[in-house]
Amino acid sequence: MAAGKGTRMKSSRPKVLHNLAGRPLLQHVVQTTAQLQANRVIVITGHGAEQVESALASTAVTFVRQMPQLGTGHAVQQAAPSLHDNGITLILNGDVPLIEASTLKALVEACDGKRLALLSVLLEDPTGYGRILRHGDSNGNVFGIVEQRDGTPEQLRVNEAYTGVMAAPTRLLKHWLQELTPQNAQGEYYLTDVVKLAVAEGTPVVCAQASSETEVLGVNSPAQLSDLERRFQRRQADELMSAGVRLADPSRIDIRGTLHCGSDVEIDVNCVFEGQVSLASGVRIGPNCVIRQASIGGNTVIHAFTHIDGETSDVRIGEQAVVGPFARLRPGANLGNEVHIGNFVEVKNATLGTGSKANHLAYLGDTTMGERVNYGAGSITANYDGANKHRTLIGNDVHVGSNCVLVAPISLGDGATVGAGTTLSKDAPAGQLTVARAQQVSFGDWQRPSKKPKS
Ligand code: UD1
Ligand code: MG
Repeated sequence: MAAGKGTRMKSSRPKVLHNLAGRPLLQHVVQTTAQLQANRVIVITGHGAEQVESALASTAVTFVRQMPQLGTGHAVQQAAPSLHDNGITLILNGDVPLIEASTLKALVEACDGKRLALLSVLLEDPTGYGRILRHGDSNGNVFGIVEQRDGTPEQLRVNEAYTGVMAAPTRLLKHWLQELTPQNAQGEYYLTDVVKLAVAEGTPVVCAQASSETEVLGVNSPAQLSDLERRFQRRQADELMSAGVRLADPSRIDIRGTLHCGSDVEIDVNCVFEGQVSLASGVRIGPNCVIRQASIGGNTVIHAFTHIDGETSDVRIGEQAVVGPFARLRPGANLGNEVHIGNFVEVKNATLGTGSKANHLAYLGDTTMGERVNYGAGSITANYDGANKHRTLIGNDVHVGSNCVLVAPISLGDGATVGAGTTLSKDAPAGQLTVARAQQVSFGDWQRPSKKPKS
């Protein structure tokens, strides 16, 4: 179910498209269902349907629209014609993102084609959730679910919450759905009312308990979203630490994708990893780095405040390289072993050979650079002529002085030296010093202007 507006988010974006760990809530749920061997996965859309459907365009799901949105029971009514009578229907909330496949499998088994199986959880504070109602004590038979807004004070003291996940025999479910009425505080067709209908007909209702609270928490407000984000991040941090990764603070790391680490990796505080990132053994990441789509070789050090973004073309860094502080590596940056990139250096779509260095205030774009090059402070590859991009080729053992402009397309032969302040618009030959700058002159009889005396 993904048709609701998510009023409590107070956002123009459909609730199920808000991100958890960099992916929409609904995508987490859909990816989990892929592990269930379901006949088909149906996503019920309504509020912001086009946006929601296009966000899931790459997945193998069928969409059913619910217009208007008259409650969770009404939502499932829209999907009913697409369901085979003989099967089991598993119903999931699009806003409960961390549900685990093993829990869902157990729920389907509990249903076994003849029972209504509900997934519940004991919560210290169940405010906002539907409550499981049982005869007698907490082991008694289930006879209904009451929503927060319809509950009596006594019912609201129950701390067994309905998680929004149920498995039902499809034929019975279709029948119950036809019986729903909107007689409740919200004037909606509640899916949860199928419980009392099942009980009335003598269908057994069973409850399975979730394995952890985190997997069944729903997102209804920004506060709940951030709480779930922190829980999810903490879980990932714990997994990294148990694999031997040393995190300066497990509550100050964010992984929005997949992070693979070798042995003896150290990560300082406030780092964000996005997409696929791999850190080979002995890598050290300083504080406040953002790293997206990158692979970093063994024993390389990334100093503080470095931004690595391989969004459209992965960034690759070899072994024993040193990057940052305050460096920026953009798509297609490919640094060899022992390369040094220092503060305020930007590299885009450029390959640097072993041991080359650009340590201060520089730009390298659309460049192929050989080994052991020293690229001076403030030097720039002028790769864009206003219409097209051009490449700069730099050989091995080249020395580019400070504040040079290399106007591409251009090439610098092996061992070339380019004097500081040179604007290079023709190729620099191998092994020679090339300088292009105005002749220096000095005026011995020159006097500094002096201030006129006040009158
Ligand atoms: C629902 C349950 C509640 C449970 C909670 C768990 C009902 C009536 N209540 O409440 O017992 O404790 O989930 O998280 O089912 N949706 C539609 N169409 C609609 C309305 C909602 O598709 O007309 C979708 C929403 O997009 C969402 C899901 O159904 O993904 C749940 O809707 P929401 O409004 O969040 O229900 P809750 O109040 O959380
Ligand atoms: Mg909800």
